[in-house]
Amino acid sequence: MLKKRKKAGDFVESSRKRIEKDIEYIGNITATPGNGCTRFSYTEEDRKVRDYLLNIFKDLDLDVSIDAVGNIRAKYKGEEELPSIMIGSHIDTVKNGGKFDGVVGVITALETLRVIKEKNIKIKRPIELIIFAEEEGSNFGVTMLGSKYLIGYLKKEDLKEIKNDQEVSAYDMIKNFDLRIEEEDQKIISKSEVECMIETHVEQGGILDTENIPVGIVDAIAGMKTCKVLIKGTSNHAGSTPMDLRQDPMTGAAEIILGIEKLAKEEALDTTVGTVGKIFSKPNSTNVIPEQIEFYIDTRDVKPDGLDFMIKEIKKLIEKVCKKRKLESEFKVIGKNESVVLSEEIKGTIEKVAKEKDYKYKKINSGAVHDAAMLAEILDVGMIFVPSIKGKSHCPQELTKYEDIKQGCDLLIDSVVELCNK
Ligand code: GLV
Ligand code: MN
Ligand code: MN
Repeated sequence: MLKKRKKAGDFVESSRKRIEKDIEYIGNITATPGNGCTRFSYTEEDRKVRDYLLNIFKDLDLDVSIDAVGNIRAKYKGEEELPSIMIGSHIDTVKNGGKFDGVVGVITALETLRVIKEKNIKIKRPIELIIFAEEEGSNFGVTMLGSKYLIGYLKKEDLKEIKNDQEVSAYDMIKNFDLRIEEEDQKIISKSEVECMIETHVEQGGILDTENIPVGIVDAIAGMKTCKVLIKGTSNHAGSTPMDLRQDPMTGAAEIILGIEKLAKEEALDTTVGTVGKIFSKPNSTNVIPEQIEFYIDTRDVKPDGLDFMIKEIKKLIEKVCKKRKLESEFKVIGKNESVVLSEEIKGTIEKVAKEKDYKYKKINSGAVHDAAMLAEILDVGMIFVPSIKGKSHCPQELTKYEDIKQGCDLLIDSVVELCNK
């Protein structure tokens, strides 16, 4: 018999103390102590966090498997052999990022399993905690590498072509992290093993915090394109080359970058954003007009038309500026994912539970990308957001109140139990 658990007061609660302890512990595992969290996938910091969590999973008696690219899945048995309910997120970070992005989704998932086990809550379906590898794209500039592999969007051969700034391929880095990329066949996730997925995450925008709403139910996740641009000019002496005899790729790049800001701000849709956050100058000397500038564009929109507009117009802009300044250029889209509207059914379940628990919530879109968006290609997916103070994220100042994370976790637990017993 399944336990009846509907009345207020009958809800289980997560432990804020346990959540805080785990997030703080993991937050201290960083390559940049004192300057935010820097924990790229396939590094020693990543290894330490994996070991910490794998030990906890062992104590909880979870059935753990790790795939060829390092996605960790830890399964808690249900009463029946049915497709599982998946929950989780990622543990890698951007450079000098925060300690909440990703980790909140992993630790609330872990806390969900701890509470269900501790309270002996009966669940028909198994629950699988997932930790996705290389979500941030910090190594290779390709976001959500782990989930893209899991859904078959990226194949092993593709991983040989994806390289970091030192020209090391994703395939080699993964192999050197002692993962079985050479030996294992790629296993693509399917509906027959996983019924649906929920990812809990920090909002990374200021809407919930400004409006003082503790929970967001995500409606859609933005699509994204990442592009690599090379602007080539002529290297020369910074002192003796007259201004009108230069082919300076730095000033060309500057004009293009300002143009990208203008496109996103004034000409695309009101949901479109565009960013240039990574740039290299060659040879990068004070007294040399550079030979080449390499920079990366990140453009996003929940509406596909906004993204299409940006790519079309950015290409035109690069051509125009380079023609005027007698520069050469190369442009390549190196990463892309479509915008996703999340499952009505999962959103409906989360909303119903939020109402039962009398939580104030808001339906909200995500400008950040998430592994959940990849899985939505195959599974029904939902997301729960908790507020980011002052909307800060991908920086050391990223902050979410532990009481809000606890509340998000409580919502997750009841939503998961509901889905498990449907
Ligand atoms: C990843 O978190 C991203 O949105 O860039
Ligand atoms: Mn994230
Ligand atoms: Mn992130």
